[in-house]
Amino acid sequence: MLLKDKVCVITGAASPRSIGYATAELFAAHGARLAVPDIAMNDDALAEISARISARIGSPARIWGARCDIRSAEECKQAVESIVTHFGTIDCLVNCAGIVKSQSMKSITEADYDDILNVNLKGTFNICSSVLEVLADRGSGSIVNLASVAAQRGGGLVGGAHYAASKGGVISLTKSIAREFGPSGIRANVVCPSMVETGMLDGNVTPEMFKEIVSAIPLKRAGQPSDIAGACLYLASDLSAYVTGATLDVNGGSHIH
Ligand SMILES: NC(=O)c1ccc[n+]([C@@H]2O[C@H](COP(=O)([O-])OP(=O)(O)OC[C@H]3O[C@@H](n4cnc5c(N)ncnc54)[C@H](O)[C@@H]3O)[C@@H](O)[C@H]2O)c1
Repeated sequence: MLLKDKVCVITGAASPRSIGYATAELFAAHGARLAVPDIAMNDDALAEISARISARIGSPARIWGARCDIRSAEECKQAVESIVTHFGTIDCLVNCAGIVKSQSMKSITEADYDDILNVNLKGTFNICSSVLEVLADRGSGSIVNLASVAAQRGGGLVGGAHYAASKGGVISLTKSIAREFGPSGIRANVVCPSMVETGMLDGNVTPEMFKEIVSAIPLKRAGQPSDIAGACLYLASDLSAYVTGATLDVNGGSHIH
């Protein structure tokens, strides 16, 4: 049990196919109490993921969930207040909420740019800021933000230049948090996945593209949400107690640098 009774906030977990959900399931199996704010969270979605996680761990999941749009600083603040009221504290944040759009640079409009940056970068900033208030008060905690190989290699797989830029911003933001809050006992790290089989690929990757991308991956398969969840578990838990400001590649060897 690497996260026994830890209160873990995981954004982007509303869909059972998502990286956030796989992370929530794995964390619950390691004893965590879960808070799952998501723009798509509602009673039905919460009941479904709660039932799935309870079945996986063989006991009732301890889970809080509500709708929260991370583009809004106010909604993030309210969600964090509700989580603290419910569980008493927060030990860690894994920020998996994000959106993607495959577009060429020339076709990206100002509205496209704002859509992507507002969720992926401003949203990450908003939820980190609210959670940091709690972690700084208690003098401990771990933040894990999801970026992408797109930020490291200049896009080119799934997502356009705006997506790659937003994820580059997430890496810089996370390093800054690590430096500023290290003295307060708080760690912050990034996970950089490459192509992972989730709903995010729907409409963005054709079967032909999928095959071609997989053929160039040294481990010869696409990532699974559980692959990313394992990396998040390492970074959220004390296994990584002396790791901060790091970027962990989980890409099957598709980008070795
Ligand atoms: N799937 C991949 O190939 C891949 C590759 C590299 C990086 N990533 C990153 O990993 C993370 C998780 O991706 P995924 O594949 O599980 O995606 P997904 O589309 O399956 O899930 C994303 C979740 O984010 C939520 N969300 C979107 N906008 C939101 C908002 N404004 N406020 C709150 N929640 C919001 C959605 O409702 C959804 O539950 C993302 O940051 C993504 O950019 C994914």
